[in-house]
Amino acid sequence: MAAKLKAKPIRASKINIAQLMQPEHANNLGNVHGGWIMKLVDEAGALACMRHAQRRVVTVAIDSMVFRQPIRIGDLVILNAEVTYAGRTSLEAEVQVQAENPITGERTHTNTAYLVYVALDKKGHPVSVPPLFAETEQEKVRMNQAQKRQQRRISQT
Ligand SMILES: CC(C)(COP(=O)(O)OP(=O)(O)OC[C@H]1O[C@@H](n2cnc3c(N)ncnc32)[C@H](O)[C@@H]1OP(=O)(O)O)[C@@H](O)C(=O)NCCC(=O)NCCS
Repeated sequence: MAAKLKAKPIRASKINIAQLMQPEHANNLGNVHGGWIMKLVDEAGALACMRHAQRRVVTVAIDSMVFRQPIRIGDLVILNAEVTYAGRTSLEAEVQVQAENPITGERTHTNTAYLVYVALDKKGHPVSVPPLFAETEQEKVRMNQAQKRQQRRISQT
């Protein structure tokens, strides 16, 4: 029988990434290309899940992504990712995206995304991940919401 994995708190795998948006990140309108933000979101979520699982992970599902504000070239994009659900081999990450004008310091929340990853062993097979635990009431609520989202995804597949 496989050894039981030690549960980890949400805070242990939080990730913060910041990247300056350069001309090569632009779309035809001169703002930041949404696909570039999606790539950064996927990477931030994967990093949080890798930290939690201490394994390689692959993306298995991405919930809808809504961009509420354009991000400008020259803005600093800030991504905060954390694990919100750990199943047997799957993990959900919540990724919050903010854009900061580095001159004025003004920050805008541009979108929040939920992504699901699966941890893989060295042969590329799904492998068990450590359980996740909440340390605050707010985290408990968010973990409950994440569990419901995962149940909904599974029921739709
Ligand atoms: C991820 C992958 C390894 C899973 O393999 P699988 O044989 O389907 O494995 P399982 O059926 O055991 O599912 C593994 C976990 O994923 C979850 N899962 C599967 N499909 C899901 C979906 N659509 N949404 C959410 N979770 C899902 C399962 O519930 C299971 O979770 P659990 O172990 O916590 O209960 C396989 O689907 C794969 O390789 N996908 C491609 C990944 C990839 O290349 N991503 C990059 C895309 S460019």
